[in-house]
Amino acid sequence: MSQHIEQLDKFPSTRYMGSKSKLLDSIWEVSKDFEFNSVLDLFSGSGVVGYMYKCHGKEVTSNDYMAMAATYAKALIENKDIVLSNRDVERILKQTDNDGFVERVFKDLYFTDDENRLIDNIRANIKRLRNPHKKAIAKAALIRACMKKRPRGIFTYTGQRYNDGRQDLRKTMEEQFREAVTVINEAVFDNGQQCVSTWADSLKLRKKHYDLVYIDPPYYTPQSDNEYVRRYHFVEGLARDWNGVDIQKETKTKKFKSYPTPFSTRDGAEEAFRAIFKKYADSILIVSYSSNSEPTKEEMLALLSEVKENVKVVPVDYTYSFGTRKSVKRNSVQEYLFVGW
Ligand SMILES: C[S@@+](CC[C@H](N)C(=O)[O-])C[C@H]1O[C@@H](n2cnc3c(N)ncnc32)[C@H](O)[C@@H]1O
Repeated sequence: MSQHIEQLDKFPSTRYMGSKSKLLDSIWEVSKDFEFNSVLDLFSGSGVVGYMYKCHGKEVTSNDYMAMAATYAKALIENKDIVLSNRDVERILKQTDNDGFVERVFKDLYFTDDENRLIDNIRANIKRLRNPHKKAIAKAALIRACMKKRPRGIFTYTGQRYNDGRQDLRKTMEEQFREAVTVINEAVFDNGQQCVSTWADSLKLRKKHYDLVYIDPPYYTPQSDNEYVRRYHFVEGLARDWNGVDIQKETKTKKFKSYPTPFSTRDGAEEAFRAIFKKYADSILIVSYSSNSEPTKEEMLALLSEVKENVKVVPVDYTYSFGTRKSVKRNSVQEYLFVGW
């Protein structure tokens, strides 16, 4: 098992909602005393937790039901040694015939006509790449560029309302794309294991044994919006090239319907936790959760105790930023790691 801890700093930082990039030390701290090799990151999001385990030499499977998350994991976790060369980048940026889809459908919503044309051009050239990991890097870079060029990195509103003139917004889309390729290339490494990226609903993922399963679903709270698809629909659309989704033409944002997930209701979340714990009852289970979510801490402990003899809760202090429509305020929320073994 080869360790590459120094790689961890190379993970391309993101502002992905709910990212656990600040909790990596705590997650490793509760993991390290167990003996394990295979790890499933069942709700991978930005991919940073799976990447942390990859740096520790583990055989990581990274899963999420969003194509954009699966694309990130394919480029950064599954991928061992493929990078995009300068020649590849020039080919991807070269003017080519394209379907003009983004320019047409998203006109005047998020980006300028020129930027939309560049996005369409890159999409067309990505389709010509044959190597799946090159494709994943190029797509991940395009997604990253679009998020960086977007005030707040989200697509729940149109126009430039939150444009504060910051450096990332002043760079061109092409500059952002080139920079994204560079940071992703630098984060690629081989830890000697067969790491895998999967794109599936957590409850439908084919059953297989993993020594350790890390579980970080969307937080259900009665007040907050945890809809990933609504927030990131444009970049999620890019990741799957809008295949198999219906854009809701009447919406201002031209989003498509969110994927159904049990974690959007309280009862649904409880049932889903029960099913997931049962499915992975033979694995070490680590669950991220926070004090303002439901099921409550006590209920979660009871659920875990249904399948695990030993259960503990490790509180992790963490300042969490909550964006509301009018203000962004910092709330101190208690984060927990539930561990069952
Ligand atoms: C809290 S985030 C995970 C954050 C991640 N641990 C990180 O550090 O970036 C929750 C993730 O669950 C995914 N998700 C929601 N419902 C899902 C489901 N039913 N199956 C698989 N993934 C789901 C969302 O797409 C989102 O990426």
